[in-house]
Amino acid sequence: MFESVSALPADPILGLMAAYRVDSNAHKIDLGVGVYKDEAGRTPVMQAVKQAEARLVQEQDSKSYVGPTGSAKYNAHIAELVLGKDLAVRLSDRRVTIQTPGGCGGLRLGAEFIKRAAPDCRVLVSDPTWANHIPLLGDAGLNIEKYPYYDQQSHEVRFDEMMDYLKSAGPEDVVLLHGCCHNPCGADLNQEQWEAIRDLALERGFLPFIDMAYQGLGDGLDADAAGLRLLAESLPELVVVNSCSKNFGIYRERAGAITVIFNDSQNRDAANSQLAAIARGIWSMPPDHGAAIVETILSDATLYADWDAELTAVRKRINRTRTQLTDALKARGIDRDFSFITREKGMFSFLGIKQEEVRQLVDDYSVYLVDSSRINVAGINDGNIDHLVDSLSRVLR
Ligand code: LMR
Repeated sequence: MFESVSALPADPILGLMAAYRVDSNAHKIDLGVGVYKDEAGRTPVMQAVKQAEARLVQEQDSKSYVGPTGSAKYNAHIAELVLGKDLAVRLSDRRVTIQTPGGCGGLRLGAEFIKRAAPDCRVLVSDPTWANHIPLLGDAGLNIEKYPYYDQQSHEVRFDEMMDYLKSAGPEDVVLLHGCCHNPCGADLNQEQWEAIRDLALERGFLPFIDMAYQGLGDGLDADAAGLRLLAESLPELVVVNSCSKNFGIYRERAGAITVIFNDSQNRDAANSQLAAIARGIWSMPPDHGAAIVETILSDATLYADWDAELTAVRKRINRTRTQLTDALKARGIDRDFSFITREKGMFSFLGIKQEEVRQLVDDYSVYLVDSSRINVAGINDGNIDHLVDSLSRVLR
């Protein structure tokens, strides 16, 4: 049966992780996979997470299943985190929030649900988008198309071209948007642009599907959700997927959620049964530990404040590192403007260098980044920035 199965090339991000691990160069730098690293290059467990885990060990009295849609309490807290308290309550009659195994689980659940509701729809994704969006949505059988998004020359959002493209979208189409901290380019939509997208969605009737994997890593928990909340305020239907991997630093625990807003509550109840059945058919019940940590933190004012402070420190370090890198590149006299890196948000930016220059960085200098020249800014620290800037200046010479 399996003789005809052929090997696939390594996933571009995961392949890089594996190559980095076996590189013996003491100066190697990992700017590949999107995990936060502190100044010492570690991906620490947050103190609030440790405390929540200790509490769970003490207090949890059962490991029985949580059910296909997860913990009701977790779902309620996530809806508030994503939508804000006021909107979460106002929309409660016509929305559902369902716990999923990470943001990926939410993306796949959303894709399978959309496939049932509108099998021939197009899903329009930004060019570029996160590499895994294509398999996550496409393997559910949805047709994927790309809309223009990022200009590699000017490092700006190609907003006019994007809007021209989206004008072709109609009620049978889905438009995937990054809620904040665009992966891979770091260039986000501003308030006016979100408003324009909301107006166009109202006019054309397409369904915005928002992936928010980095809430809190850009400008703050509320600021990062402002765009999606604007859409949630006025659109009849909306899909939002969020991940707790990055903002709680619990990557391997796989905690995320999907929130779907419907036209009315009747519609919501019918759809809820479909979503639960799809989840049951894929993973049956979601893993609990990560969601239980998040639920514990979000339902305790002290733990929440501790977590918020730690997340703020993460965000500040990323933003500081962006400025530090731009300054260091300038100080090294590299004849190129890298100031866009300070304007961009979240973990990622493109360096905007050629693929052969990326290969040279990886092969000759052990500076690991994906071929597109996307870097994880959080991989940079005081101990490795000189090697990075030296290597880059040699490659660009
Ligand atoms: C990334 O883009 O590096 C992260 O979202 C991790 C992943 O799964 O690809």
